Amino acid sequence: MIALGCDQGGYELMQEVKKHLDARGLEYKDFGTYSSASVDYPIYGKKVAHAVADGECEKGILICGTGIGISITANKVKGIRAALCHDVFSAEATRLHNDANVLAMGGRVVGPGLALMIVDKFLDTPFSGEERHARRIGMIEE
Ligand code: RB5
Repeated sequence: MIALGCDQGGYELMQEVKKHLDARGLEYKDFGTYSSASVDYPIYGKKVAHAVADGECEKGILICGTGIGISITANKVKGIRAALCHDVFSAEATRLHNDANVLAMGGRVVGPGLALMIVDKFLDTPFSGEERHARRIGMIEE
């Protein structure tokens, strides 16, 4: 189960992400927002971060205008490693190296074509499991 959250800056792109996840047959829980009306992104960043941190969802996808505010919010929650990615290389690297559990993007930064490639790379890349990366992830929580 993938937790989804966005504000008005990410709302349109999130509709594309949902269509894409539907097409792939991947289950998600949409924590909102549910329209393009102005809202406060920390509400949605926290909902998704807690769903992932509590184990209700395995991964999360967050989208605001830049991806910055919503990723900062998510990273305040213990156990969350939210990665702001606007390229496919970073999406792959953050799974391999950081075992990132939340992907953040900016709906005003990337178009849907690139965003969906980033989503696929993030969801389909496993953590490398290498000792040095596991050690460093452990150090984040210390
Ligand atoms: C909302 O206008 C905008 O500030 C928000 O979507 C995001 O970019 C914050 O980091």
